[in-house]
Amino acid sequence: MEEKKSFLKQKIDLESPNKNIVPITTSIGGDGKLSVGGCSIEELVKKYDSPLYILDEVTLRKSCRAYKNALEKYYPGESLPIYASKANSSIFMSNLVSSEGLGLDAVSEGELLTALKGGVPNEKIVFHGNNKSDKEIDLAIRNNIKIIVDNDYDLKRLEEISNSLNYDLEIMIRFTPGIECHTHEYIRTGSFDSKFGFGIEYLNNLFASISATKHLKLKGIHAHIGSQIFELDPHKDLGEIMVKVILDAKKFGHNIKELNVGGGLGIKYTKNDDPPSIDEWVETISTSIVEACKKHNLDLPRLLCEPGRSIVSTAGITIYKIGAFKEIPGIRTYLSVDGGMSDNPRPITYQSNYSACLVKNPLNINSKNKYTIAGKHCESGDVLFKEIELANCKTGDLICVFGTGAYNNSMSSNYNRIPRPAAVLVCDGGAEIIQKRESSFDLLRYDILPDRFIK
Ligand code: LLP
Repeated sequence: MEEKKSFLKQKIDLESPNKNIVPITTSIGGDGKLSVGGCSIEELVKKYDSPLYILDEVTLRKSCRAYKNALEKYYPGESLPIYASKANSSIFMSNLVSSEGLGLDAVSEGELLTALKGGVPNEKIVFHGNNKSDKEIDLAIRNNIKIIVDNDYDLKRLEEISNSLNYDLEIMIRFTPGIECHTHEYIRTGSFDSKFGFGIEYLNNLFASISATKHLKLKGIHAHIGSQIFELDPHKDLGEIMVKVILDAKKFGHNIKELNVGGGLGIKYTKNDDPPSIDEWVETISTSIVEACKKHNLDLPRLLCEPGRSIVSTAGITIYKIGAFKEIPGIRTYLSVDGGMSDNPRPITYQSNYSACLVKNPLNINSKNKYTIAGKHCESGDVLFKEIELANCKTGDLICVFGTGAYNNSMSSNYNRIPRPAAVLVCDGGAEIIQKRESSFDLLRYDILPDRFIK
């Protein structure tokens, strides 16, 4: 058998999990099989069934600490990393990031309630969204959660509320800095043509409108330029642009004390990906802001950033069981697994690539075995991998897909009425359930057959 060097043999970067394909506690047990967090994957599947989402606590905490430590190292002013909970929102994740001292970014009533229930302190939560409901705004205001104003509609409602309460309301505004970066167009948000935030050319009008309100106090500015970004220059440029915006706002009497530079740092999904480390990303953005402030004689604002993917993606893996094989001679061999686009919609949505291995034989790759791994949904495009090289495999074997901690569970669906997988947390040889497996019966809970249809 022709063997290739497996990605599992790459040296693990212990400081910046986003630079690895695998969770940092990944190992091959004495039996040659895959384990994570000191737990045998085979044993986990025996206990919790498949498909199964697994999160590695050590990798999660490392990522949180990497942001905290780098901000302390490179940014002399006050700072706070805020976890973008859209990447993976749960009571567990809210609790974990807040135990590491991070704040949390929420974009809906659901994410807000999850954060509050997970124990994130209200003053460390920020609330985003390009179409917030009145109910969501009310929830945020009642809980003293900082609102990031995305558009005139937000502004108008907040002005009315602050007037009716006769109460000063501190706000941040989101703007689009006009920075292009190389990422999938669906996850690029900082260019002029974006549904999010105020165009930078509109900011002077906005500053004037806010000055004209009685109770809105502009305390901060926010921009997020996109996701899964490997270049550092766009964030360097962003730092400089944001400092210029602080200067512009000053002309209208606003004293901006907080800069929120969004998230966006990419992770290594495959051997071909080479993202900067968390340390390098934070150094770039911090240095750019510090230098620009020095140049313009400005006090350092409080620096916030909102990483999502680079906190949780590498900590997560998904395990599937192989079922059917279909060989189309001269074309390809399909291998079908027990999950797919409902637990990981990223390949069908963004043509995303991942890395995977067999749990029983993780290091061996037979380049003659090219499999196309298909999900079980009734959709031809439900393909997780095209032509992936794996060791010899058969029905019943387990496949581990790496880097699934972000935007998998949080973007999952029940397409074809397929229940969501369970999620377990692994640490030091122990496993704890953090999300119960849905059952097909759970999916019937909200269906109603009107009385007249019941015979
Ligand atoms: N802050 C804001 C305002 C955002 O919109 C986002 C992501 C983040 C922070 C976190 O960005 P990150 O550090 O995770 O790159 N579903 C897509 C990603 C969409 C990102 C949306 N916004 C995917 O699966 O690739």
